[in-house]
Amino acid sequence: MEEIRQQFLADLSRARSAKEVDEVRVRYLGRKGAITTLLKGTDFSRLSPDERRELGRKLNELKAFVEEQLVRAAQAAEAAAAPQVGAGQRLDLTLPGTSRRLGAIHPVTLVQMELEDVFQSMGFMVLGGFEVELEYYNFDALNIPPDHPARDMQDTYWLTNGMLMRTHTSANQVRALERFGAPLRAIFPGRCFRYEAIDASHENTFYQLEGLMVDREISVANLIAVMKALLARIFGREVKVRLRPGFFPFVEPGFELDVECLLCGGAGCATCKQSGWIELIPCGLVHPRVLEFGRVDPAVFSGFAFGLGLTRMAMMKYGIPDIRLMNSGDIRFYEQFPAAV
Ligand code: PHE
Repeated sequence: MEEIRQQFLADLSRARSAKEVDEVRVRYLGRKGAITTLLKGTDFSRLSPDERRELGRKLNELKAFVEEQLVRAAQAAEAAAAPQVGAGQRLDLTLPGTSRRLGAIHPVTLVQMELEDVFQSMGFMVLGGFEVELEYYNFDALNIPPDHPARDMQDTYWLTNGMLMRTHTSANQVRALERFGAPLRAIFPGRCFRYEAIDASHENTFYQLEGLMVDREISVANLIAVMKALLARIFGREVKVRLRPGFFPFVEPGFELDVECLLCGGAGCATCKQSGWIELIPCGLVHPRVLEFGRVDPAVFSGFAFGLGLTRMAMMKYGIPDIRLMNSGDIRFYEQFPAAV
């Protein structure tokens, strides 16, 4: 065995190409190769079980060694045959490399960043919240009675443990009042969930940005001023707004804030359904009951709240026709929105 091993190594060291390596393989492992013959020609029957085991192990070891050496030599021969930069040739380092595709910022994130910026400049905190929420903060503490249609099984994803997927960022209002008290200025961007059939304008998962300002003598005039500041930032110019009455149990009075249609300038078009106005931000003065739930005295403090649809706002700003693009995960879609940050 040792002789075969030495001979094999000598033969292999002389093999210069993959073809020659293969010839060595045949000479040792082929049908009539030295190792094959040795394995076949050994008469194990005359040996004791211990001797048999020992000899078998050694033969297997030799075979494994030879196989491994052959693989290595074949790889080395192949590598040596690969084209190399030799004399008279040079590498062109100016050739373009393989480019990596970078990610892009989602349009909802872009709008969110702009809004966080403008609100922080007005002294608002940017706070988070919980996507899985207690019924108390999503409904009860917002003065939404148990029989209110917003609680309908149609609208809310209930979890088996009795909690729910928050249906709006308003769930943060009382949490923030409890924690920080008044005066308070905060916005809460975040993802919300509703049990909805999905089509071009409805998603069961969307983003809102809630705003809450509580202080002494806060009025509708403060609300309008802040709304105008945020709209000017998002749309890059002054936009005309109007307030219509709107009902939400947690504000009194409640409003729907409309903006003059940005596409037709108020003349009437398909997007604004010929009205010249687009319903954009539900808002109002914080209901005294909500302040009480947050342990803030409504005789001393008042406030406003608004719940801006971030997803809708991004669609308006960038003229995105179908909400389903937003969660598509298609980078060709995201790449179209330049980060103006
Ligand atoms: N949370 C309400 C909604 O999702 C919007 C809203 C927020 C209305 C704050 C008034 C004040 O429909």
